[in-house]
Amino acid sequence: MDALTLLTTRKSNKKLTAPAPNTEQFKLILQAAMHAPDHGKLHPYHFVVMENDGLNKLETLLKAAVVEFDLGEEKLKKAENLAHRAPMVIAVVAKIDPTIAKVPGWEQMLSAGCATYGLQLAAQAQGFDNVWISGKWVNGTALREAFGCCEQDRVIALVMIGTGMEKAERECRVIDTKDFVTYL
Ligand SMILES: Cc1cc2nc3c(=O)[nH]c(=O)nc-3n(C[C@H](O)[C@H](O)[C@H](O)COP(=O)(O)O)c2cc1C
Repeated sequence: MDALTLLTTRKSNKKLTAPAPNTEQFKLILQAAMHAPDHGKLHPYHFVVMENDGLNKLETLLKAAVVEFDLGEEKLKKAENLAHRAPMVIAVVAKIDPTIAKVPGWEQMLSAGCATYGLQLAAQAQGFDNVWISGKWVNGTALREAFGCCEQDRVIALVMIGTGMEKAERECRVIDTKDFVTYL
């Protein structure tokens, strides 16, 4: 698939199943993420990969957050479903260093966001569907601890990756851009 087709047909899919990317495919996904634009060459992010038993651990961590934030009974079931929605989950932690004068925290956050998009695009380029999920539970104390977060870090994504259960339509939907662009 050429780059422009990939960019203009990218689509999320929440209905995912095995297989997940294999080791070689996963390496390429990480490479794509780490080629994101990066002021100061900081690589201000960390990836936590969950498969197999890691997904059971994710379930426990999401449920702990539901209890911590008193999100209600229904969310406990949602946490269970979410943790097992895909055979692979890559959590993205934005590692923000507020002491770097040249690169403010918000720029570091943007790099981490671009890296996340890189994960998504490289997964899709290799035939794997995916979706970027967040939610209040990513702020859970136990989850943050398990992901190795420092105080200023933010868990910005749980990228769920797998094989689409149904073949998603990948047509190039032309979006009307006129309200989003001006020229000087
Ligand atoms: C920072 C961020 C957080 C998101 N969090 C969620 C989420 O928690 N739940 C959800 O259903 N979609 C979430 N989304 C949106 C989906 O990943 C997806 O982009 C959206 O459903 C639109 O589908 P599309 O990517 O095919 O255009 C998030 C997107 C971003 C950029």
